[in-house]
Amino acid sequence: VLHSPSKGTVEMEPDDLILVGKEDDIKKSQRIIAKVNGREVVVFYHEGRFYVLDSRCYHEGGPLYLGEIEDIDGQTCIICPWHKYTITLETGEGLYQGINPLEPSPTPRWQSKGVKQRIHKVTVKNGNVYVSPPDMSVSFDSDYFAEKYKNGGDLAM
Ligand code: FES
Repeated sequence: VLHSPSKGTVEMEPDDLILVGKEDDIKKSQRIIAKVNGREVVVFYHEGRFYVLDSRCYHEGGPLYLGEIEDIDGQTCIICPWHKYTITLETGEGLYQGINPLEPSPTPRWQSKGVKQRIHKVTVKNGNVYVSPPDMSVSFDSDYFAEKYKNGGDLAM
């Protein structure tokens, strides 16, 4: 299911949206890097859905573009190739495996650290994929690296 504009933004003109690519191209390649107001984002197409996140991992700026997508506890996640941090594609939450030492036989369980990676709202229209301008009144850990790598920066993979 594709993201559709939420209530109140239905009237939004395409001019407000930033074109990141053609729907067919992204479906074929499954992932692309794009720019949103100079900011590097990664667009994933996975199991019928588009997801857009800041491209640089909130931990130390690893290239999420090169990560593996995995299903973890029913959540679609990208695993950062640098230190294997796990980030949900839908919400940008950082997940970790925690143990409750008080349990009789402690078993690691996935838990959320909260939203760490900025996700971007996607709109698919007339065969094009658009992203909404980021709301910078809210900040996320990944903003630091998004700024650092803005407008090209050092694109070390
Ligand atoms: Fe992504 Fe460290 S930079 S896990």
